[in-house]
Amino acid sequence: MRLTYVVTGANRGIGLQMAKRVLTLGHQLVAICRQPDTAHELSALVQESNGFATLFAADVCDAQDLADIAQGLDHSVDVLVCNAGVMSARGGISDQGNDAASISNALMTNVASPFFTARAFLGALNRSSAPRIAIISSLMGSQQHQGTSAYFYRASKAGANNIMVSLANELQPQGIAVASFHPGWVRTDMGGDHADISPEESAHGLVQQFDSMSLAQTGGFFNYDGKPLPM
Ligand SMILES: NC(=O)c1ccc[n+]([C@@H]2O[C@H](COP(=O)([O-])OP(=O)(O)OC[C@H]3O[C@@H](n4cnc5c(N)ncnc54)[C@H](OP(=O)(O)O)[C@@H]3O)[C@@H](O)[C@H]2O)c1
Repeated sequence: MRLTYVVTGANRGIGLQMAKRVLTLGHQLVAICRQPDTAHELSALVQESNGFATLFAADVCDAQDLADIAQGLDHSVDVLVCNAGVMSARGGISDQGNDAASISNALMTNVASPFFTARAFLGALNRSSAPRIAIISSLMGSQQHQGTSAYFYRASKAGANNIMVSLANELQPQGIAVASFHPGWVRTDMGGDHADISPEESAHGLVQQFDSMSLAQTGGFFNYDGKPLPM
């Protein structure tokens, strides 16, 4: 079945590979990134898609940017992937990077933006017969994952999972499935060169999960291969 996907942060990393995978599978793509002018690989993908993909500019921390894109769509959205994210300071209690600007950016991008994105696309999701929202979270946000680093990245992804649960509860009566996903430790600008898996492998697994996602998964947190994870 051909689905319409929206993917945020589609210009690089896992988001770019998800965009590629979605098109390879014959789905329709609405790609969102901050600066389409410099998103050369994504722009080429969209141009070569024979009308299967469109590209929009938005900062996901700007609710109005997202609302403007959604209002311009005249078709339904089946799968909304809230992927855009930032890593804040990686160190412990003495890391000077844990300042107000960095903390605010992590919380706005990783916690507030999935909420803004879901709210903006609610109308388009409600036009789908099987709507779903996938929030790209992280195992580092799990209370079961003990760590002594990246305080606010961990907290922000725990917050993203909490937002996911509220959305799942509120949107279940409308038939919208909402779940969050850990993409693995992935070799991207964020994950670094020594991470476990390639962005292609992560995106392949994630899109497979999204394609089959239903209300049976709503409120859950899953690995990119579908394994349930503890929040
Ligand atoms: N890589 C890993 O090992 C790993 C592990 C667990 C979870 N994750 C999560 O997976 C997701 C993707 O990560 P990644 O590894 O692909 O990271 P990445 O390579 O650093 O890419 C991050 C993406 O998010 C976009 N973004 C950030 N802030 C944005 C904003 N305000 N508005 C619009 N776009 C914004 C970036 O756009 P710009 O190019 O404009 O900055 C970029 O497209 C993130 O949510 C991340 O937390 C990654």
